[in-house]
Amino acid sequence: MTNHRLKLITTEDGSHSLLREDLNETYHSFHGARSESAYVFIEQCLHYYAEHTKKGPIRIFEVGFGTGLNAFLAAAYAAEHQLSLEFHTVEPFPVKPDIYRQLNFGQSEEERSLLNALHESGWESPRSITSRFSLVKYETTLEDFSATRDFDMIFFDAFAPSKQAEVWELTNLKKCFDLLQPGGILTTYCAQGQFKRNLAAAGFEVQTLKGAMGKKEMVRGVKN
Ligand SMILES: C[S@@+](CC[C@H](N)C(=O)[O-])C[C@H]1O[C@@H](n2cnc3c(N)ncnc32)[C@H](O)[C@@H]1O
Repeated sequence: MTNHRLKLITTEDGSHSLLREDLNETYHSFHGARSESAYVFIEQCLHYYAEHTKKGPIRIFEVGFGTGLNAFLAAAYAAEHQLSLEFHTVEPFPVKPDIYRQLNFGQSEEERSLLNALHESGWESPRSITSRFSLVKYETTLEDFSATRDFDMIFFDAFAPSKQAEVWELTNLKKCFDLLQPGGILTTYCAQGQFKRNLAAAGFEVQTLKGAMGKKEMVRGVKN
């Protein structure tokens, strides 16, 4: 697939992110990559679900593996909370080693090895990354992904609708709805009006929550 030019940037909480130059779009909020991921996907999705619904094992589907930050934080959460996670993710444009090896998400040697292991685990088949965290990466788009799995949750982490409107379309959101088991949830940093209407049209109950890092709102969709 196409190689896009990526530039390493440092966000306001000190954590790295990437800028995709052709879209002029960053992989995370300028206000804090790590803080945003921790809030939108770990706190408002994984932690919320683990507290309210199910202790595990939990199956996660992610739209856009990118830097691996969400998988990295989820693996850390699994270790901290002694929870088993099965993490599936799609990514049509994998980040290359010369870039991901520079990412500063891990402070200790162990954490840096974890991030590298997530990137180097190969494609299309399950890998045990730690005793509590398994990973399957699919080198494809959400549009082309086919699976019949009943996921507990979806981390919807695509580029913004203003940059990649097609990823947020109703067909994709219906696919997400079908991928979830009853009671399953989806979160995203985006709270755009058309997206929320599409999410409701796909069958989700739409919850608008306080946003991360200076953003007014974020969204959680629930499959009731
Ligand atoms: C906002 S970035 C976030 C990535 C990642 N979750 C992270 O924390 O670094 C969006 C990601 O979605 C990927 N992407 C682009 N088009 C996609 C598509 N059609 N389906 C799934 N992912 C896509 C991009 O390559 C990019 O890695």
